[in-house]
Amino acid sequence: MREKQFERQLRHVRDFSYTSDWTSYNYSNWETWFAPYRSQPNLRILEIGSFEGRSAVWFLQHILTHPSAQLVCVDPMPWPVNPPRPRFMHNIQLTGQASQVTLVQERSEIALTQLPPASFDIIYIDGAHDAINVLADGIYSWELLKVGGLMLFDDYLWEPDQPEHSRCQRAIDLLLKQFGARKTLIHQGYQALIRKDAD
Ligand SMILES: C[S@@+](CC[C@H](N)C(=O)[O-])C[C@H]1O[C@@H](n2cnc3c(N)ncnc32)[C@H](O)[C@@H]1O
Repeated sequence: MREKQFERQLRHVRDFSYTSDWTSYNYSNWETWFAPYRSQPNLRILEIGSFEGRSAVWFLQHILTHPSAQLVCVDPMPWPVNPPRPRFMHNIQLTGQASQVTLVQERSEIALTQLPPASFDIIYIDGAHDAINVLADGIYSWELLKVGGLMLFDDYLWEPDQPEHSRCQRAIDLLLKQFGARKTLIHQGYQALIRKDAD
């Protein structure tokens, strides 16, 4: 189905629309970690990898609840392999908070170089999962994160039987080591969460 045609069909759908759920099992941890940021004016969250918007919707409904709070989503949303864009737009519209969202439809390795340094309070890294991509996302994100901000990596323990270069763990381990004493490791499970303590 063509993307425009699909967008027109979704206009008649009154509920959120998703094809998969890689997200909701994180919600209880996210509540704990991000609750102190809830309803903070001018809060800025960067999400790398948004797909159909399930995690973006959670951030909007639970944390970015002050009207001045902003979410920047970076995802190339490739078409025609899998067309997440119509569902992403539909789901974001349904939150009633679309004016708080900027979608940068570009690969993160390009997009992140064009965002202002030290401008985000929370960065969620859930884009391409190859080690080289996760490494790049982590390095660029460090520059974009404010001191005191949180950086969350998804899928730290994803696909342990795959070669190291095609999964996240080795890259995240390297980043954790290189950030050294400039960060605090808050959580290391299926996801990994750090706080940036110094530049
Ligand atoms: C696992 S999905 C994200 C799921 C989403 N965070 C959620 O929980 O609902 C991964 C997304 O990363 C995107 N992606 C792949 N390569 C990327 C890149 N180089 N830069 C940014 N996003 C990328 C894909 O298009 C896909 O939508």
